[in-house]
Amino acid sequence: MTEATPTTPDSTAAVEVRGVDKVFETRTGQVHALDAIDLAIAPGEFISLIGPSGCGKSTLMRLIADLDEPTGGTLTVFGKTARQARLDQDYGIAFQQAGLLPWRTVAANVALPLELHGVGSAERRSRVEHLLDMVGLSDFADRYPDQLSGGMQQRVAIARALAEQPRLLLMDEPFGALDEMTREKMQTELVRISAETGAAVVFVTHSIPEAVFLSDRVVVMSPRPGRIQQVVPMRLGAEAERAARTEELREERAFFDMVTAVREALHGGSPVSSGPRGVETR
Ligand SMILES: Nc1ncnc2c1ncn2[C@@H]1O[C@H](COP(=O)(O)OP(=O)(O)OP(=O)(O)O)[C@@H](O)[C@H]1O
Ligand SMILES: [Mg+2]
Repeated sequence: MTEATPTTPDSTAAVEVRGVDKVFETRTGQVHALDAIDLAIAPGEFISLIGPSGCGKSTLMRLIADLDEPTGGTLTVFGKTARQARLDQDYGIAFQQAGLLPWRTVAANVALPLELHGVGSAERRSRVEHLLDMVGLSDFADRYPDQLSGGMQQRVAIARALAEQPRLLLMDEPFGALDEMTREKMQTELVRISAETGAAVVFVTHSIPEAVFLSDRVVVMSPRPGRIQQVVPMRLGAEAERAARTEELREERAFFDMVTAVREALHGGSPVSSGPRGVETR
């Protein structure tokens, strides 16, 4: 199935990937990680990438973030090259490990990108205050990362990713290490934050319910070489508006139907009894 891109003709896509290939040269030969990837992500759209381990999700994220280069095809971020978008700080990144600086307080970690880009100290302080409030950590501003739980550290990382009010957030399994309850709470918070800031999000996950809960569209990938197998639009009825997604949605019929649709897409369209390797169905 080809994707239906919900961009209007005069809007510039947040991310546009056209015919992107990625081949890694290794000592034992070539690894074809991505093959002919086509994907356009609209401003403000929430996209999840899901697929078996090794199908190229992180590779695609790294190409968008200009941490690596495609072997072929073109990739633009807000109409610019990935490199220019990185230089212009057009996106925030949160990956699986929180990656906080242990010698800096929570507030100082969140302030770091602002410091690096010359935001004055008064404005920095008020932005950090607002961000910590948004992720529910106002009372922990002066703590150090090792005094926080893993979930709290992850929230600090998300606040830091949001510090520069990016129009795009790149998140590679940011909740992978969290317990189920914290994870659901973080999902609800991310839905709220992304709706509030209007940021587009590219989110990698192994959890089908997580992808369904968060996304406007779920991109299902297949491995070796990584291809887009199907793009599944989330039809969640009245709850489809991101701002309206609440805990109740997880128990709605439409939610389960979408979980089933993504599961079947992962299996190439056929009904299945067990999940593929590396994909959680919880
Ligand atoms: N720097 C590299 N050099 C060589 N091969 C690589 C490199 N990075 C990734 N690969 C290969 O590319 C393929 C895709 O890897 P990638 O990390 O993108 O998968 P993934 O979908 O993120 O997997 P996971 O779900 O396990 O995180 C794999 O076969 C991997 O071994
Ligand atoms: Mg990965």
